Amino acid sequence: MGISKARGDFPTMRKGRGVYLDSACQSLRPDSVIRAMTEYYEEYPGCGGRSVHEMSARVSLETDETREKLASFFGTKDPNCCIFTKNTTESINTVAFGLGLKKGDAVVTTDTEHNSNHVPWLVLAESVGIERRYSVSGADGEFDIESFKSRMDSGVKLVSVHHASNVTGCVLPVKDITEIAHDSGSKVLIDGSQAAPHMKVDLGRIGADFYAVSMHKMLGPAGMGVMYGSQEALEELRPLTFGGGTVGLATYGRADMAPIPERFESGLQNYSGIVGAKAAVEYLEKIGMDNVAAQDRKLMRRMAAGVSGVRGLKIVGPEDPDRRVGAFSFNIDGLGSHDVAMMLDRIDKIMIRSGMHCAHPFYESRGIEGSARASVYLYNDDGDVDRFAKALAKVAETFGNH
Ligand code: ALA
Repeated sequence: MGISKARGDFPTMRKGRGVYLDSACQSLRPDSVIRAMTEYYEEYPGCGGRSVHEMSARVSLETDETREKLASFFGTKDPNCCIFTKNTTESINTVAFGLGLKKGDAVVTTDTEHNSNHVPWLVLAESVGIERRYSVSGADGEFDIESFKSRMDSGVKLVSVHHASNVTGCVLPVKDITEIAHDSGSKVLIDGSQAAPHMKVDLGRIGADFYAVSMHKMLGPAGMGVMYGSQEALEELRPLTFGGGTVGLATYGRADMAPIPERFESGLQNYSGIVGAKAAVEYLEKIGMDNVAAQDRKLMRRMAAGVSGVRGLKIVGPEDPDRRVGAFSFNIDGLGSHDVAMMLDRIDKIMIRSGMHCAHPFYESRGIEGSARASVYLYNDDGDVDRFAKALAKVAETFGNH
């Protein structure tokens, strides 16, 4: 399937609902994902792994197939190491509260984390007394490996970092980070929510203990995430929630834990989300992640060239578009980011995100109130980027401080 035709697979694109440049928040969904989810509700709306009738047997089969598909998409051999969660936030919380971290254990993050990979550690510092450390990025927001190394010693029990930043778009060298962390005896958790939609993620190559993604950023359903864990790491992890589905046999006095992955999937699951996730990954496979990455790069370059003359433009993150995966954060002198976003929406139905993007410490440390952010994905085209650049120039010219 050619990427140039992909646009036609997305209902909101066909309906001309405007220029969608907010995919770092949530992607659009193609017909095949919507169809798969609707088919579940219309044809076999049973539960998985419990009842033995035909509808439920199909749900169980689809669930197994989704796990197999996800495992092969992410380059891992064992489908049972892919746990269904609600989203990346829930996956990170599962690891944070399941590792049994104790007072004085250190957790290393970066200074550019999303709140999902920041707040759980704050809570654990308060409740348990873990030590928090974070690497400090350079002036343009890029990860500094020397700063990271300086935070590492044998007291570090977990390194938890993003793979790509939702603010700067920068990609971290997660394989190197994992090797350094493992050499220090630390486990590694990677928040892949902004990277997995845009590049081939090979978990076998990266070697991290845990890797979390949100399907809603990669053409899949909202409320559907995947937490990968190595067999060894998952065996040591305490689940976040307990109940039906997580046990083998429970008596009045005791409960035997179910094997992995069921141990981590309590209660009835989001089955339409599961089949939608399979359809999303199948769609991405058909397009090809190399083609997705090439399209992103082309659009980011075009955007950089298109906005280069915009008056009062201040880029948040590196200037070089090749160092930003799919996301372009910026401010216009004299305007708040929400004002810029609202004006773009009114002027030419251009949808972007504004504010602090749930990365509050990053903005606060730099004394910035927030930023506007335009983010692209495989269904965007040159016309979208050109409309954005033209409307932004108009906003800056008319209302900016110059
Ligand atoms: N973290 C998501 C974003 O950056 C929601 O928009």
